[in-house]
Amino acid sequence: GITRHYKFNIKLTNVTRLCHTKSMVTVNGKFPGPRVVAREGDRLVVKVVNHVPNNISIHWHGIRQLQSGWADGPEYITQCPIQTNQTYVHNFTVTGQRGTLFWHAHLSWLRASVYGPLIIFPKRNVSYPFAKPHKEVTIMLGEWFNADTEAVISQALQTGGGPNVSEAYTFNGLPGPLYNCSENKTYKLKVKPGKTYLLRLINAALNDDLFFSIANHTFTVVEVDATYAKPFETNLLVITPGQTTNVLLKTKPIAPNASFYMLARPYFTGQGTFDNTTVAGILEYETSSNSTAFKPTLPPINGTNFVANFTRKLRSLANSRFPVNVPQTVDKKFFFTVGLGNSPCPKNQTCQGPNGTKFAASVNNISMALPSSALLQSYFFKKSNGVFTSDFPSSPLHPFNYTGTPPNNTFVANGTKLVVVPFNTSVEVVMQGTRIFGAESHPLHLHGFNFYVVGEGFGNFDPNNDPKNFNLVDPVERNTVGVPTAGWVAIRFHADNPGVWFMHCHFDVHLSWGLRMAWIVLDGTLPSQKLPPPPSDLPKC
Ligand code: C2O
Repeated sequence: GITRHYKFNIKLTNVTRLCHTKSMVTVNGKFPGPRVVAREGDRLVVKVVNHVPNNISIHWHGIRQLQSGWADGPEYITQCPIQTNQTYVHNFTVTGQRGTLFWHAHLSWLRASVYGPLIIFPKRNVSYPFAKPHKEVTIMLGEWFNADTEAVISQALQTGGGPNVSEAYTFNGLPGPLYNCSENKTYKLKVKPGKTYLLRLINAALNDDLFFSIANHTFTVVEVDATYAKPFETNLLVITPGQTTNVLLKTKPIAPNASFYMLARPYFTGQGTFDNTTVAGILEYETSSNSTAFKPTLPPINGTNFVANFTRKLRSLANSRFPVNVPQTVDKKFFFTVGLGNSPCPKNQTCQGPNGTKFAASVNNISMALPSSALLQSYFFKKSNGVFTSDFPSSPLHPFNYTGTPPNNTFVANGTKLVVVPFNTSVEVVMQGTRIFGAESHPLHLHGFNFYVVGEGFGNFDPNNDPKNFNLVDPVERNTVGVPTAGWVAIRFHADNPGVWFMHCHFDVHLSWGLRMAWIVLDGTLPSQKLPPPPSDLPKC
């Protein structure tokens, strides 16, 4: 591979959407941010220079960071934030991966404006496992808030209630014509008839799973989270924040005299009603007059049936070129409840959670508190005292009826507890969604690994019977999985990457409320199984 250099200047830029102009934190003045490309095997060297008053940190979402955990990016997990006027160089090699990923700020809610595509092409002279497309197109799904994102998060944290929802969803930063004052901010995809386009879809939205469809067209799913999938056709898909989906779109053989809306809007099962409705882009055939515009039909906002049917179709390609490496046996099993909860309202606040409490979210009833120094440094330099403990429970301390009503076991405890596993442990994690304060799907993301989704279902996980139906042949491989609403999902992976790895809900509101935990994977014995020391410019707290 070769070395590719990028420079990220973090700076404020005025951006206007929906007739609101605001100053936003951006990379190089762009919203969304610049595209980063590499080939499998290349080294990426990205120099991040912070010119804004805010702290910043950048995460390479889905990059495994084999032996380069120092470059991963989440604040207070693998590094301290990059402060104003500071610089940090992320230096890592893309090993054994190719596909669609993205990079984003991993600090507060700055991800709302600081994100961009990260495209890993196969090695030179290596083909896709499908015919070469005529053209490749990246479509990033995102959110637009009229308010300053910092104000949105502090409102959510200070009131102890739900956050203000965004004003619009976006395709590549553009809300499209179905929102007021947005006609001229519409994403357009111009196509030729009779060709195949590879659409790289990325959900960079803060808090919403999204349905996506294009009127009168079907497409073939070929990849999720930068792993090849068994192709299947659909005209509708769902994608959680943190997930990517590649589809092949075959255009009509003869250019029709029409244009076609592509739409996205939320899938949501939680409490309260909101929609904030639909981002529209337009698929246009180059030579036609585009007189009529067709619109696709999306599922209802709570379309859980569609979601369950869609995710069940996702399988690894699992052929001789791209075999699966799913652990057939496991060394260590974990059972994690993931969901909402509440905690006492601090004295000088009025909280908007149930019965005047403060909203929280947790894994096994532990709402993770971020430490004041970074976990990876504390671990590496053996200074964990007062920073974290290694006693994260491998199952809930007080089991309850997770999906029953009325909810019980709602209170969460704060803590910074980690799980420690030896190098190369084969791990199974069952993530059980809860019905505390309403069931909701949670997009759980694991840093440092891909995992296999070996099973999922609704209701409470049954440890005696559900494992009998696990798919250990061609389970989908990914880095972010939607835990079904009032249901469970089982994942397996080899803990073959030494370091400290974050796992969290990719809804920023749940992440801030504490739906997060971290793993320590110990060094192995060989030099190639050890985490090297940090780079000298690693930010200090
Ligand atoms: Cu894309 Cu820790 O996140």
